Amino acid sequence: MERVRKRDRKASGEGAARGGPKGPADPSRVPPLRVQRRKQAFSVFGGPVERAGDAESAAALAELLAPDPGLARALTHGFHSYAGRMHPSTARVAIARFSQPGQNVLDPFCGSGTVLVEALAAGRIAVGSDASPLAVIIARVRSTTLGPEGRQRLVEDARRIAETAAERARKRLRPEIPKWARGEKDRFFSHVALELYGLRALIGETQEDDVGLALRACLSSILVKFMRGSDEAEARRIGRGVPSHFFASRAEELARGLEALERRTPAGTPAPQIRVADARDLGMLSADGFDLILSSPPYAGTYDYGEHHDVRFLWLGLPRANLDRVQVGARDQGLGTAAQRWRADRRRWLSEMARVARRGAAIILQVGDGVVAGAPEDATRAVEEEARRLGLDPVARVSQARPPHDHRLRQIFAGRPRREHIVLLRKKG
Ligand SMILES: C[S@@+](CC[C@H](N)C(=O)[O-])C[C@H]1O[C@@H](n2cnc3c(N)ncnc32)[C@H](O)[C@@H]1O
Repeated sequence: MERVRKRDRKASGEGAARGGPKGPADPSRVPPLRVQRRKQAFSVFGGPVERAGDAESAAALAELLAPDPGLARALTHGFHSYAGRMHPSTARVAIARFSQPGQNVLDPFCGSGTVLVEALAAGRIAVGSDASPLAVIIARVRSTTLGPEGRQRLVEDARRIAETAAERARKRLRPEIPKWARGEKDRFFSHVALELYGLRALIGETQEDDVGLALRACLSSILVKFMRGSDEAEARRIGRGVPSHFFASRAEELARGLEALERRTPAGTPAPQIRVADARDLGMLSADGFDLILSSPPYAGTYDYGEHHDVRFLWLGLPRANLDRVQVGARDQGLGTAAQRWRADRRRWLSEMARVARRGAAIILQVGDGVVAGAPEDATRAVEEEARRLGLDPVARVSQARPPHDHRLRQIFAGRPRREHIVLLRKKG
């Protein structure tokens, strides 16, 4: 459990919430938060960029590796942490360079929805899917602007819920603890867990419409922050009322991001269509429909997206079994991912991309060198070879070093370069 927790925190850039108001929290006067949330949330960029293939296309791809740090939390990008997020600026530049307004953009590994938010803001018709129901909720919430009334209801409901939960927490009123949550005292200090149950119960009383979904995502977005750290002193520093205060603040931040997204989106652009689906079988999408496919599939043996978000699945009452069954590239007992299945899966999702792309369309993949059966794999060579077999042209790529920071990966890569790549494939016209 500890292993999951540490990893989740590290990837999300979150730490346990400290400080915050000691006395009654008044969510209508939420002061600025003193939480360190701005730690590096994306892969570290920088260093020389290696280019290969068509020079003009490679130059365009190189721009995707020069992110604008100002965009990291723009629109709704800062709302919810997510492992392996694409940098918003990579998505923005790729969409501008490789598609036109009104065209169809697909991300079949959409995760928290970075590509879909940027596609919407650029007036593209965005379609996304992911095998994780948690990812689909986050992506929907980040890209459903709600309109002025919906946003107002979001903020008012969140404040009301926070006020009630904080008051009950300060009065030491114990909410009923559901059966599934009895083990959660290992993850949270008990007064924190009780306040979070209180919040969850009140959220559960709201309608399950778009605003209700946004409230649930706000709870999901604060959970990791309040998990036990190694330092017992944290218990005293997470005062009663603090989780509720954060919850209300998160809803306000989301409402501001959604308003900015609405302002940026060209009139008449439809909301993205987002659903739970296995990227290896996109049977719900017809052939030749997409002008741009922009996606970052899992890196081999790097994360397990179910285990990684375990606490969120549990608290949101989401099923994990299907994700565990269909997930590609999941990290497996330190050996990376199993070779045969990894390759067969890659063939399947790439051939689905080839099928649904229009003739001449760009398929842009952000891929990273990973670990397959205990050995390093050069992601770009494998993708390009497979693409050729499927009748796609590997036009260009750019690569940049991402030296491993964890001991396991350093040992596996043992001095060999570990890189992240952006690969441009084209469906033959
Ligand atoms: C690198 S993350 C994508 C992050 C995303 N670009 C973002 O900015 O948040 C890879 C995603 O692939 C999803 N995934 C894994 N196996 C899948 C499958 N078979 N079908 C669809 N999605 C899958 C994971 O749930 C995860 O959300």
